[in-house]
Amino acid sequence: MSTKIIDGKAIAAEIKKEIAKEVAAMIDKDDNAPHLVAVIVGEDAASQTYVASKEKACKSVGITSSVYRLPANTSEMELLELVDFLNRDEEVDGYIVQLPLPDHINEQKVLMAIDPAKDVDGFHPENAGRMMLGLPSYLPATPNGIMELLERSKIETAGKHVVVVGRSNIVGTPVSVMLSRKAKNADATVTLCHSRTKNLKEITLQADILIAAIGKVGFVTVDMVKAGATVIDVGIHRVEDASKEKGYYLAGDVDYDEVSKKASAITPVPGGVGPMTIVSLLRNTLLASKKAVYQ
Ligand code: GUN
Repeated sequence: MSTKIIDGKAIAAEIKKEIAKEVAAMIDKDDNAPHLVAVIVGEDAASQTYVASKEKACKSVGITSSVYRLPANTSEMELLELVDFLNRDEEVDGYIVQLPLPDHINEQKVLMAIDPAKDVDGFHPENAGRMMLGLPSYLPATPNGIMELLERSKIETAGKHVVVVGRSNIVGTPVSVMLSRKAKNADATVTLCHSRTKNLKEITLQADILIAAIGKVGFVTVDMVKAGATVIDVGIHRVEDASKEKGYYLAGDVDYDEVSKKASAITPVPGGVGPMTIVSLLRNTLLASKKAVYQ
């Protein structure tokens, strides 16, 4: 049996082309290009890299992007004032406040101040609630990217047992809801596992589709995977390695070398879920500019 390597990079490139076409059609009609704003507070290195990739991706499809870079000592009040300004700025279709925020700022308070109609991250409780109820909403980027990867890779989900490892608000919990909905490319039976789960391996061994979103390098080992399962790896970690040119290599939550021999399909790290995440944000920005979710 040969294992299918799910090429997130290629699938993301295909979707980017579709988005670029839609943006070009808007501009042809004399509509403004969609406009995404990112707000970044402080100097977190990973956040800087994420925001730079988001800007680059916007540019590649014709979406206008701007970034507000605020110093680490910005007060919560100042950030809330910017959020209020962006809520009212008609030139801005959607925006994100890059997480994590510095410790002195209440993250939840900031996310709740974002106008749900501009919340292209889908982190506002209004969007989370709408998603939960199957109403139109901005879907969070990583779970939506996983849904799209499965669909475009023609991996059947209806009636399958999906096991999600990790219950974060931004990945594990929403993807478990999305896959269990009564909907096309969903309809799965979902088990959500977490740090207090007993007999984890017994459960993961039942998975037709195993989603690793635990945030621990190499956590899912080959003995935890059923032969022929589909394995989706959400993790991305820098592992220090002096023999590499950069001094590190990237690895996921799954022991790829071993698990890839047993799975029927698997996402690599990098080049699996990661590229899909940014594409989902572009899609939400396009929806925001068309007022397609909140009319
Ligand atoms: N930090 C890590 N991932 C994300 C994301 O998708 N959105 C925001 N706003 N911050 C993040």
